[in-house]
Amino acid sequence: MSTSKIKRLGILTGGGDCPGLNAVIRAVAKTAFNRYNIEVLGITNGFRGIMENEHFLLNDSHVSGILHRGGTILGTTNRDNPFRYPVGTENGTTVWGDVSDQAMANLKKMEIEALIVVGGDGSLIIGNELYKKGIPVVGIPKTIDNDLSATDITFGFDTALNTATDAIDKLHTTAESHHRAMILEVMGRNAGWIALHSGMAGGADVILIPEIPFTYDSIYNKISDRQNRGKKFSIIVVAEGATLPDGDLVYQKEVIDNPHHSKLGGVADIVGSEIQKQFGVETRVTVLGHLQRGGTPTPFDRILGTRFGVKAVELAMAGEFGKMVCLCSGAIQSVSMEDAVAVQKLVRADGELVRAAKSVGTSFGD
Ligand code: F6P
Repeated sequence: MSTSKIKRLGILTGGGDCPGLNAVIRAVAKTAFNRYNIEVLGITNGFRGIMENEHFLLNDSHVSGILHRGGTILGTTNRDNPFRYPVGTENGTTVWGDVSDQAMANLKKMEIEALIVVGGDGSLIIGNELYKKGIPVVGIPKTIDNDLSATDITFGFDTALNTATDAIDKLHTTAESHHRAMILEVMGRNAGWIALHSGMAGGADVILIPEIPFTYDSIYNKISDRQNRGKKFSIIVVAEGATLPDGDLVYQKEVIDNPHHSKLGGVADIVGSEIQKQFGVETRVTVLGHLQRGGTPTPFDRILGTRFGVKAVELAMAGEFGKMVCLCSGAIQSVSMEDAVAVQKLVRADGELVRAAKSVGTSFGD
């Protein structure tokens, strides 16, 4: 039995969903029940659940049979930040306000002594702000983008990588049959991790990532070099955040006053049509989209999610707040949330991974 004064933990999942969230929720609940005999309040739909007082006490049946399921049983949103919350409309436009005091009051009413925030950088920044206002918060990093610098890897990335690699394998067979350049656009926001890893695993001929500027000439040089060697097809993997040669990012939807709400997407279409127009190479474009966020988590993501969930409860029970769990050199550890959200983890253009890819002939279009 626990000697900690904690009797009830709260947990929410914020930001875009990702495979492995249910493994975390299960691990938090089972650790709380089995090891500490305390309650766990599931707050639904991320920070909106705090504002709207939507939550329920988790029990064994909520968390059994969910380990292998994608998504999150708690629901999530990537919109509802209590520090910048929609509070009305004026002349047809949304008015934003800081309603964090209301969030604090609502959290108090929930009678939780600690709040576990499972999220990417956006949710962890909010969690850290709530911590600074006095809420005992522990963070757990999730994102398919793998762009958090304080952890070697986030859960969700491995599953997304598997999905993207499988897509490249499938594109290979049709590319070969038709002698085409097949272009696959993958997610990752402004980091090239999914493109780099899946491109390497899938043997892509060209990988375009935000961290390395590309030119169309350089892409074509690679395609024509292959053609000269009798290889009539090429596979190009493009990160959604890759910048065009003129320096532009490509958005499906750009929200100027709130970049977090902008949606990248469409760069592969532009690359495909330029390659076809400028060099006469037949191209086809596939945008993998949200398939990368869905489906069954890989064993790696289930295990990492479980380890993170267990560690987060241990930190809370030890009173170690303002911390985020992380994987560092293979061991589960913790770092301050302030440090964890300070710097985005990007691919190093001169790093070992890029050098390894270049050594085996992969072009980055540079
Ligand atoms: O951060 C995860 C992610 O899937 C990014 O890779 C992508 O840019 C974004 O979320 C898409 O967000 P939404 O689900 O809001 O379209």
